[in-house]
Amino acid sequence: MAKIEWIRLSEVDSTNTYAKEHVRTHNTAVLSDVQTQGKGRDGRTFLSHVGGMYLSLVRMDDLPVAESPRYMMAAPLAVLSVLKQYGLRPRIKWPNDVWVSGKKIAGILIESECDGDRIRRAVIGVGLNVRNEVSDVPCAATSMLLEGAEADVDCVAEQIARRLDGLLSYSLSELHGLMRKHLLSIGRKVTLPDGTKGKAVDLAEDGRLIVCLPDGSLLRVAAGDVTLSE
Ligand code: BTN
Repeated sequence: MAKIEWIRLSEVDSTNTYAKEHVRTHNTAVLSDVQTQGKGRDGRTFLSHVGGMYLSLVRMDDLPVAESPRYMMAAPLAVLSVLKQYGLRPRIKWPNDVWVSGKKIAGILIESECDGDRIRRAVIGVGLNVRNEVSDVPCAATSMLLEGAEADVDCVAEQIARRLDGLLSYSLSELHGLMRKHLLSIGRKVTLPDGTKGKAVDLAEDGRLIVCLPDGSLLRVAAGDVTLSE
């Protein structure tokens, strides 16, 4: 198992931003107690109170761009695997949120730096509600503590980083198989960000969600949040 270097901060704007500005060594993890400008996907803010886990793992795997779904799949699978060790029953909501009891417990933001068709650096950011306040989070959210799991933030971060490092040695098709198995969205009615309604029927190997529209045609959705209707 590869060694992971740690940078431990008490406060930072965003561990992803810090990693992008300061870290160019493979398998370096940045962990902060608090983020003052935590970033979510699609330009959203990620509220980051004390008691949560705010982790960014820097990877310099030098993969072809076509392999980028590996990061997208390995990250939620790492969170899922660690949460299971604490007795929780997590699922993945496409593209890579982790939910427990029908509520969001973790979010993932991956920022990559490419050179031609190679990914030179990927910063995999994971925010997990461990024992932090979630009542002001703008979506239905839960935490490990609310679900009955007492955990230490540093310990959970180390477990997730190690699991992520391990999963990143899996092939894309292995990760795809695991992801499909744990995806909450398949078989559910969904609404796409532009209001289009359909039913999520499968996950493509490139990480796209395959949605069947009312006219029977199939749409491969690459990005954006989908709302689950039932
Ligand atoms: C989302 O749910 O939209 C993604 C949230 C990602 C949050 C994590 S916390 C660690 C890392 N640093 C950030 O600023 N964002 C990610």
